[in-house]
Amino acid sequence: MTPPDAPAATFRARLAAVAGATQAMLDALLAPAILPGETLRPPRLVAAMRYACLDGGKRLRPFLLVETAALFGLTGEGVLRAAAALEMLHCYSLVHDDLPAMDNDDLRRGRPTLHKAYDEAMAILVGDSLLTLAFDVMADTATHASGDVRLALVQGLARAAGLGGMAGGQVLDLAAESSPMPLAPAALLQLQAMKTGALIRFAVEAGAVMGGADDFARTALADYAVALGAAFQIADDILDAEGDAATLGKATGKDGARNKATLVQALGLKAAKARRDALVGQAQAALQRAGFGGRADVLGQAALFVASRDA
Ligand code: IPE
Ligand code: IPE
Ligand code: MG
Ligand code: MG
Ligand code: MG
Repeated sequence: MTPPDAPAATFRARLAAVAGATQAMLDALLAPAILPGETLRPPRLVAAMRYACLDGGKRLRPFLLVETAALFGLTGEGVLRAAAALEMLHCYSLVHDDLPAMDNDDLRRGRPTLHKAYDEAMAILVGDSLLTLAFDVMADTATHASGDVRLALVQGLARAAGLGGMAGGQVLDLAAESSPMPLAPAALLQLQAMKTGALIRFAVEAGAVMGGADDFARTALADYAVALGAAFQIADDILDAEGDAATLGKATGKDGARNKATLVQALGLKAAKARRDALVGQAQAALQRAGFGGRADVLGQAALFVASRDA
């Protein structure tokens, strides 16, 4: 019997398999060879983009996209392209998040942050280039045969990543640092739903859209993803407070030092953990409502992973 607080070995194996496939796709997409319409891919920029994306990270967003699509019987290159595009966008968000003007971090995925390994101008431009390449990949016919599906992917990603999603959430996150008043809990949860939740929700939504999910399944899967994304950021905040920097591959204790708005700061560790675990239960309940039975077990395990992870 697997203990209820740890994901099953099959989950670990599938996460590793998706991570490997995502790595191979990123390697192919971040190649020096130009595409029609491009002029030249500057080697230093290609190298820096590869530094930002390859050989690191849990690849949770690709996993959620790939495993959601698999619920609908969809596997293969197109799904991996979409997963790699989403990971590029996530990596861009990390590169910019670490900049001195934002969280000012020196370590990411166990290595110097991009602006330390290169410089700040390169970190900004790597972000720009990963963001735009992500949309290029989503829009390509190789990602999905249906133009309607590709359009839905492009628009869904734009809305998850942009001013009303991740980037907007990052603005609220930075504003909260210097606010004299702590954020109300509802505002804090909204901030987290935007900066982190939106891309996680999109991962599941993209898999569902690519797989041709009906409205019922899409809604239940979205409920699953929203709860999972909320639990994920609370877990990140808990790890900042009590995790091991070497295991995490990034510094700890930064949120308190920077007066970040987190649930740990607002409610304390014990209440934050209770909230995280309640959200895992909500995610699993939503998944059951989606009606895939045992075929969705691996996504249920992902919820346990989010809460029990140490990195
Ligand atoms: C870190 O994301 C940033 C947050 C949204 C909390 P991850 O914890 O998914 O980072 P990697 O991709 O595994 O490095
Ligand atoms: C990052 O949140 C969210 C995004 C990158 C969009 P954090 O700032 O808490 O992430 P870490 O702790 O630096 O990975
Ligand atoms: Mg941040
Ligand atoms: Mg940060
Ligand atoms: Mg953090």
